[in-house]
Amino acid sequence: MTDLSQPVTDAEAHAAGGGVAPPLWLLAELTYRCPLHCAFCYNPVDYTDHSRELSTEQWIGVLREARALGAAQLGFSGGEPLMRDDLEVLVEEARKLGFYTNLITSGIGLTDKRLGDLKAAGLDHIQLSFQDSTQELNDFLSSTRTFDLKQRVATSIKRHGFPMVLNCVLHRYNLPHVDKIIDMALAMGAEYLELANTQYYGWAHTNQAQLMPTREQLEEAEAVVERYRRTHGERCKIFFVVPDYFERRPKRCMNGWGAVFLGVAPDGAALPCHAARGLPGLVLPNVKDTPLREIWYESDAFTRFRGLDWMKEPCRSCDEKEHDLGGCRCQAYLLTGDAANADPVCDKSPFHEAVVKVVRRAAAPAAHEAPEPREQPILFRNDANSRKLAAAAFVAPDEQGGPGGRA
Ligand code: FES
Repeated sequence: MTDLSQPVTDAEAHAAGGGVAPPLWLLAELTYRCPLHCAFCYNPVDYTDHSRELSTEQWIGVLREARALGAAQLGFSGGEPLMRDDLEVLVEEARKLGFYTNLITSGIGLTDKRLGDLKAAGLDHIQLSFQDSTQELNDFLSSTRTFDLKQRVATSIKRHGFPMVLNCVLHRYNLPHVDKIIDMALAMGAEYLELANTQYYGWAHTNQAQLMPTREQLEEAEAVVERYRRTHGERCKIFFVVPDYFERRPKRCMNGWGAVFLGVAPDGAALPCHAARGLPGLVLPNVKDTPLREIWYESDAFTRFRGLDWMKEPCRSCDEKEHDLGGCRCQAYLLTGDAANADPVCDKSPFHEAVVKVVRRAAAPAAHEAPEPREQPILFRNDANSRKLAAAAFVAPDEQGGPGGRA
């Protein structure tokens, strides 16, 4: 663990990085353990290979280093962060350091006592996930019976006076329920509702054929969201982002590689993005043996795709490159086999057809269009499936021309 005796100020850190801004957002993935088994989980499919967790002291060291570097926002995530019984200790330390803290949780294990303790420790905000507005689908998608419990947890969160974001990951199963999901958020008194269309990494990538919606489903859902924004926008702010597979220009993923986001996985691996663990040849530095400042400013993992210099054509000469920064490196790898390629969501990419094909297949599941039919069972996130996938040479063979596997 790093020597913390000489913390640097934001300005010193910035200067030390030669003009590179410090991280703003630290995501502490405290554990990969989780009581749910969501089919769209963004954790790596081989998480069982990385299950050794940092100790409380090591996490406290990470928080101090990150704050000294300049990070201001801190998300406690997982897996399910409530699986760690030192969460309150970490929240208290984060509060002392001056972080704005957010607990990203399924709600399972969030008892009244823990809510009270977290409030006393200084937790600022809670993001509670639901899988759907119906018990049937919520419980199917998480492979648990947790819908009623989540309802009770939402009520308790509000009773303890926390601002609450309700989060629901959207896909072809629950997009037709968007109106009910919004009604549920309103009834629960959520200040924010994040309708997060599935991003196809990790388990969601493995289950892509089952989860990918049709364009019509998305358009209908978006129209519903617009209607609610007009009538209820004051009470609850609704975020709805169309999944990038349906766009012609890529998203500015992570707001730039090594620009604002710094993730730390349960085992101490430092992550430039949520899915970086899947990029081959990218050696992730570990907070157990490398100072966070060195990781951020000097490591190959954090500098490899920072800025614009790494770009190949067509990004290099593109007049939009400063806007989207070439899109998502993980998507480029998953769909083209090379993380340094343009994100194939972009229609200037020579691999754009790979994205078009996925969208077309979701719309027309005729036999000749869907060699991997949706009848194929969903692979739920659990230890047994993770071990199976970790043992395999690759994961979820991708039909888009890319390798479709993890490193
Ligand atoms: Fe890794 Fe987009 S998720 S760069």
